Amino acid sequence: MQYPKYFVRLIHPLLLLATLGDCQNGTTPTRYGVVLYPAFTAIDVFGPLNALNDLSYSCQINLSLISATLDPVTTKPQSAAMNPLNSSFSESVVPTHTFDNAPELDVLIIPGGVGALGPSPQLESLIAFVTEMFPTLKYLITTETTAWGPKVRWVAQARWVQDGNVFTSAGVSAGIDVTIAFIEAVYGNATATSIATGWST
Ligand SMILES: *[C@@H]1O[C@H](CO)[C@@H](O)[C@H](O)[C@H]1NC(C)=O
Ligand SMILES: *[C@@H]1O[C@H](CO)[C@@H](O)[C@H](O)[C@H]1NC(C)=O
Ligand SMILES: *[C@@H]1O[C@H](CO)[C@@H](O)[C@H](O)[C@H]1NC(C)=O
Ligand SMILES: *[C@@H]1O[C@H](CO)[C@@H](O)[C@H](O)[C@H]1NC(C)=O
Repeated sequence: MQYPKYFVRLIHPLLLLATLGDCQNGTTPTRYGVVLYPAFTAIDVFGPLNALNDLSYSCQINLSLISATLDPVTTKPQSAAMNPLNSSFSESVVPTHTFDNAPELDVLIIPGGVGALGPSPQLESLIAFVTEMFPTLKYLITTETTAWGPKVRWVAQARWVQDGNVFTSAGVSAGIDVTIAFIEAVYGNATATSIATGWST
């Protein structure tokens, strides 16, 4: 049966409840974190979080947004050279935790962004945080050009690659793909399919 797109989007959370059970056996991850730094790539944060927002309707999962301070973190380019037309166009995310008081996590998401390219004190504290967290994580999800941690490798041809407990996407919009792939691997095909279907219907 064909439902209108808006209708499917409206009832999507209810459809997702039908997959309840895939995550109720106590073995699936529950504690998610995203690290934020200035000039992160928006879709690398909101793509994965959109999929995980959907997952949260059928699985109890918690999210921490982690940065150097609790100040809002912006997508705005940090150098004038990156903003030659002086546009005022950016979005900010308010962290829930700092690198110093972040809770224990099962899954850490590291977005890409031009802010990850240049050396900066904030970036150093972020790398120190990721290095410290990595051994305690169940999964690491990275997107775009950031390649963190000893196990991450870059495969240009693949939209995403799984290497043990590290999921890496190749290319910005693949941040959504890699998260769906992660959800399929960890929560099962039915859950991943119902989340992906809500978007493509
Ligand atoms: C998630 O957060 C809620 C509210 O703080 C808490 O009651 C619950 O125990 C947390 N669940 C997990 C799995 O950490
Ligand atoms: C942007 O701002 C810089 C510095 O104030 C100025 O030199 C430049 O001309 C501006 N560019 C445009 C397109 O307005
Ligand atoms: C728990 O559910 C996940 C996702 O369906 C599955 O991969 C895992 O094997 C299950 N674990 C147990 C102990 O049943
Ligand atoms: C579910 O499994 C089918 C058959 O293997 C596969 O084609 C599909 O891509 C999977 N769905 C997701 C969301 O990974």
